[in-house]
Amino acid sequence: MSAFHRLYSGLDREGPGLPEDVHWALDRLSLKGPVRVCDAGCGSGADTRTLGIALPEARIEAVEQMPHLAGEAKARCGDLGNVSVRHGDMGALEGPFDLIWSAGALYFLGVTEGLTAWADALAPGGGVAFSEPVRLTGNDPEVERFWAEYPALTDLDGIAARVRQAGYEMLDHRLILGAPWAAYYQSLAARIVALSVEADAEMRRVLDTSWTEIANWRAAPDRIAYALVIARPS
Ligand SMILES: C[S@@+](CC[C@H](N)C(=O)[O-])C[C@H]1O[C@@H](n2cnc3c(N)ncnc32)[C@H](O)[C@@H]1O
Repeated sequence: MSAFHRLYSGLDREGPGLPEDVHWALDRLSLKGPVRVCDAGCGSGADTRTLGIALPEARIEAVEQMPHLAGEAKARCGDLGNVSVRHGDMGALEGPFDLIWSAGALYFLGVTEGLTAWADALAPGGGVAFSEPVRLTGNDPEVERFWAEYPALTDLDGIAARVRQAGYEMLDHRLILGAPWAAYYQSLAARIVALSVEADAEMRRVLDTSWTEIANWRAAPDRIAYALVIARPS
């Protein structure tokens, strides 16, 4: 396993988010009963497990492109009979799903491109909930530095425009800001410290990059955010 993948294995999750974000989306879409849900880009399955427990009668199908993370998600949800996890490409979902949940992953496909690809995988009335980097203020050098490797960064209106371009309407949104990021970076920092003891040159480079990411977040923790967006084909 590469140094990068070693760093990002064994974490509680691979990006900021909380179980209450999942519950908010389920409430907002009034989802309950024997529905079918996909966790697209599930990572190690933190939200997959939350979905499986919140919707005991539902079928939760998680997909993840990194085999070791798919394995972690499978192990984490092994006691939940309503959850299955597969190693695969979230760009080619079949469905039909009542909800496609995607935390911190849709930007790998692009908001418009991903939503367009998922439209045929949604059941009638089904929706997508995804978290996406969002610019909260105008000119903010610290925020721009943090997101330097994500040139598609835009504000909420820009995300709404990408949603519309895919033929969806944005039903609601809320911000993921502050505490969930602190929790995520706390666990990543602990992993960096643990791995730094016997790090070779490749691992040291990876740890330095992640340490810089954490330092950049610490420079603007009240302005670095994801928007959690709920969208439905219009
Ligand atoms: C930032 S992580 C978020 C993981 C998880 N959703 C969470 O919030 O903890 C993004 C995940 O999306 C996965 N991913 C990216 N592109 C993918 C694709 N085309 N198919 C499946 N998974 C993908 C990555 O491997 C990674 O695990």
